[in-house]
Amino acid sequence: MKLIKNNVYYCGVEDFGRKIFDQLIPLPHGTTYNSYYIEGSEKRALIDTSYSKTVEEFLDKLNGKGQFIDYVIANHAEGDHSEALVKVLQMNPNAKVVTNKKCKELLIDQYSIPEEKFHVVADKEELSLGDKTIRFHITPWVHWPDTMFSELVEDKILFTCDFLGAHITYKQGEIYAQETNDYLLSAKRYYAEIMMPFRPHCKKYVGLVEEINPEIICPSHGGIYKNPKFILNAYKEWTCDIPKNKVVIPYVSMYKNTEKMVNRLTEKLRMLGVEANKFDLIADDIGDLAVELVDSATVVFGASMVLAMPHPYAFFGVYLTNALRPNVKFMSIIGSYGWGGNLVGKIEENTNLLQVEKLPYITFKGSPKEEDLKKVDELAQMIFDKHKEACIR
Ligand code: FEO
Repeated sequence: MKLIKNNVYYCGVEDFGRKIFDQLIPLPHGTTYNSYYIEGSEKRALIDTSYSKTVEEFLDKLNGKGQFIDYVIANHAEGDHSEALVKVLQMNPNAKVVTNKKCKELLIDQYSIPEEKFHVVADKEELSLGDKTIRFHITPWVHWPDTMFSELVEDKILFTCDFLGAHITYKQGEIYAQETNDYLLSAKRYYAEIMMPFRPHCKKYVGLVEEINPEIICPSHGGIYKNPKFILNAYKEWTCDIPKNKVVIPYVSMYKNTEKMVNRLTEKLRMLGVEANKFDLIADDIGDLAVELVDSATVVFGASMVLAMPHPYAFFGVYLTNALRPNVKFMSIIGSYGWGGNLVGKIEENTNLLQVEKLPYITFKGSPKEEDLKKVDELAQMIFDKHKEACIR
């Protein structure tokens, strides 16, 4: 355990080797499962627990305090913060799980914990540990319907569960967020993958955190913020309604025909002063694609056809983009087909969550001809003009 302030300790576990989260997004720097132990003058509380793979290490971190817990506060029911809960309850038969109604329901679904083990709290309700008070803020949808924040009132510490976190580990055992561009990039990647689909909620809760005005923010992944403004200012930028003068181009190309068009579009946009980032959906890290979706104004999907359907990896890129609900304003599709099929219709069907103006689509048979390249140049010019009109940052 590491002391943060006045009998409040970090007892999280680093998972350096974890390579992928939710079996979906690569983790280049691993992650941490943060947990916090609070010793009040009368009662002791644990904020969240740990992941199944790290239960033993987590219990070791508690340094013998693990069997003297009165309350386990569950800010969120997802397994990376709750899979050690049953074990902690076995060690502390009289302990109560303090959480909100929705989180209780999800914990019972997962672990069949008896009803009587729970103490359900409402928004702004408080729990006394003697000389310390915990106030609960019910904050659904960052990123599950059960999420909540716990505020340690006297010490001005806010535990925000997944919100404001980052998938990053420090080999030297550092527990505080380093105010560097590398850290910000990890936090932005985390925001893109986990929080971006809930952008309006994120905006609202940034306001709530500012109202609470904590001196320290303790999230469930990554470093602790001794300077809350560092992460709050970043979230303000990432959740801004006005995107940047940027285009993101996820694509798949089997015989380099679609790729030729993608390259031409990228080149033209850059010549016009528009930032263009292309991602080969077969070879590139989809986490990097997610990062670029955060503040890009336009997405252009590039696809080849396979068996008269868009390539399955193109579908994956489209499905992922749609699910992440980025704040893009314009969309186009470019792609090559061999003999026929419905390339754009199938892609369009899977973009229902994007609130975009559709720009012209460009499809062509075989390799791109002069007239196709001309259409791409016109698309680049149109994107440039649209970005100017839409007051893009
Ligand atoms: Fe880190 Fe939603 O769990």
